Amino acid sequence: MSQYRAIRGMVDVLPDETPLWQMLEQTARDVLAAHGYAEIRTPIVESTELFARSIGEVTDIVEKEMYSFPDRNDDSLSLRPEGTASTVRAAVQHNLIQSPQRVWYMGPMFRYERPQKGRQRQFHQLGVETFGVAGPEQDAELLLMCRQWWTRLGINDVLTLELNTIGSPEARASYKAALTDYLRDHFDSLDEDSQRRLDTNPLRILDSKSVTTQAILDDAPSMAEYLDEESQRHHERLCQLLDMAGLTYTSNPRLVRGLDYYNKTVFEWTTDKLGAQATVCGGGRYDMMVGQFGGKATPASGFAAGLERLVLLMQTLNLDAIAAPDLYIVSSDENAFGQAMLEADRIRVEFPGLGVVQHLGGGSFKSQFKRADKSGAAWAMVFGAEEMVSGKVTLKALRANEEQMTLSREELDVFLGQLEQLTNEY
Ligand code: HAM
Repeated sequence: MSQYRAIRGMVDVLPDETPLWQMLEQTARDVLAAHGYAEIRTPIVESTELFARSIGEVTDIVEKEMYSFPDRNDDSLSLRPEGTASTVRAAVQHNLIQSPQRVWYMGPMFRYERPQKGRQRQFHQLGVETFGVAGPEQDAELLLMCRQWWTRLGINDVLTLELNTIGSPEARASYKAALTDYLRDHFDSLDEDSQRRLDTNPLRILDSKSVTTQAILDDAPSMAEYLDEESQRHHERLCQLLDMAGLTYTSNPRLVRGLDYYNKTVFEWTTDKLGAQATVCGGGRYDMMVGQFGGKATPASGFAAGLERLVLLMQTLNLDAIAAPDLYIVSSDENAFGQAMLEADRIRVEFPGLGVVQHLGGGSFKSQFKRADKSGAAWAMVFGAEEMVSGKVTLKALRANEEQMTLSREELDVFLGQLEQLTNEY
């Protein structure tokens, strides 16, 4: 019989990787809490229309990447391809938008894309959405918060912030018309994808990967010429705030994003360490969506980071978190095992910051020590015949070159207290 395998593009995160995931998630929670953001949890399934209307009918996501299906009542539902639409739906439904709100979410998203390194069909995002602040200071706060997260993860140096403004919907409409006119004159030289997009979503042509299309775009009209005054002021103030904070960015006038709901600020954090899937985080302002979903018109701004890509980046930079326990407990026989089990139980209660693994399944001291070593533990704690008689325990350093110690229970508690403190500092 053939074995079952995970669905293509949907990936198991295995125990040797979860410590890194947990570290990434915990760091995000810490940074978000430090900025006054609260968590929101929305369903994974929503009505298909919710996504189609907000993300845009003619985007890749809605046209060909959604996991949509009729439920038993024949309503069209979709697995969420992103978190912004659901968050806005929930915020309007529960009247969260009466005063400014700062929320975040973390969880799986689904897009039927061609899987490759850094691109999956089930992937995970940490998303942040804010409501009620129209000014660029909200965009600045989001970007500074990203930088804090990157810094805590140790990846700030390998990330570039690409920044653009796509103006008001009206400004964008006139720009779209001018761009379409220009590109129509070069239609035959455009790549196939861009030819198709010319009538449906011409702005997306700006980030075409085709070298010839990019060359044609060199002489195309630029968004800046069509920008409305308010968007321009917004962008200038944002740049000023980022400059003040020493947050460097690259202006990318061709950055338009793959979702249709944005206006004014758009941005992406990219890296040159991950090959083709270079964007680890993207976002911007979407001031129309709340009104579009039936709420009182409310400005909004947010971003989402791809957790798989951050994990890959940290692995590439060898920043994997160490999953090893602090103590690995070995024992000589059944009697010693029983004692060791009680002691392990006690230590876990009294020193909750320590990771304590007890060896199960017996075996010689030699084989137990081999397993202790393999676990990556810092210390082996030994319960042998001698320890049973003396009531003391022996500690052997497995990584550092330190003397073996035989300690009374009082001495042991002092030692474990110090070890716990060290672990917490790390
Ligand atoms: P997005 O650019 O579509 O934006 O996705 C955000 C991030 O999710 C990407 O930069 C990437 O790191 C990750 N990502 C996207 N698709 C995949 C995939 N197939 N496999 C692995 N990672 C992926 C949004 O989703 C917006 N909702 C962001 C936002 C929030 N804008 C305002 N608020």
